[in-house]
Amino acid sequence: MPQMDGIELLKKVKGVDRKMMVIMMTSYPEIDLAVQAMRLGAFDFIIKPVELDMVVLSVRRALERKRLEEEVELYQNRLERLVSERTAKIEEAYHVLKNAHLASVNVLVGAIDAKDPYTRGHSDRVRRMSVSIGSKLGFDEKRLESLEYGALLHDIGKIGIRDEVLQKRGPLSPEDYQNIQKHPLIGVKIVKEIEFFKDKIPMIRQHHEHFDGSGYPDGLVGEAIPLEARIIAVADTFDVLTSGRPGRKGMIVTDVLMEMEGERGKKLDPHILQIFFDEKIYLISQ
Ligand SMILES: [Fe+2]
Repeated sequence: MPQMDGIELLKKVKGVDRKMMVIMMTSYPEIDLAVQAMRLGAFDFIIKPVELDMVVLSVRRALERKRLEEEVELYQNRLERLVSERTAKIEEAYHVLKNAHLASVNVLVGAIDAKDPYTRGHSDRVRRMSVSIGSKLGFDEKRLESLEYGALLHDIGKIGIRDEVLQKRGPLSPEDYQNIQKHPLIGVKIVKEIEFFKDKIPMIRQHHEHFDGSGYPDGLVGEAIPLEARIIAVADTFDVLTSGRPGRKGMIVTDVLMEMEGERGKKLDPHILQIFFDEKIYLISQ
């Protein structure tokens, strides 16, 4: 060819359309040239003088190859579209499911509030403080979400405690205390059949354990108490003391913080308490 050699032309053609089928014909059958042409994407390499049958055969094969490549490409595109459609559907279903769970949690939390109107909003304040502590501890998104639901549901068992006990004004009798102390285990009974709530059970069951082992229902000590439950215990203690209870006004924040300091290492985990103080987590609930 006068302007450029075959290899040069092949490069230019492939530069314009990578999928173009190219059959090279040459009078100089050098192996290096053939290898280079194939590497650059030539479909066939025919040596002159050519027999027409050879050319026809080569063109047919090239066309068949082209048809197959286009079919594969079409199939791949269809597959990709299908995968992205299915992914979108799965994501949508997940959101629907998540919202349904959130709705059921809100119904349950509403039921606790209705039972114990004096501490209305308690679950939500404990939720906000717990999540804030969890994020200071570096919890990932999944763990934070679980903590969020666990904190919202921690007192769910109060649904099973009689109103006269929950709303009793004045001092509680030892029997009343015994009754109220059943709420973590009642809570577990309420949620244990629901798959989505299963990982919240340790938070519900153990939120009244004390760091020194003097809590209930299992008397667990220190780090044997699940971390999430120790977090909820700190937030819960603050909110209960500031909210007060029927017949008893809540305490002012500075007094509550002093009382909590007195529980360092006794009722409350010292490390979490420190975060609660240092990061002023209590301001969130005000
Ligand atoms: Fe509780």
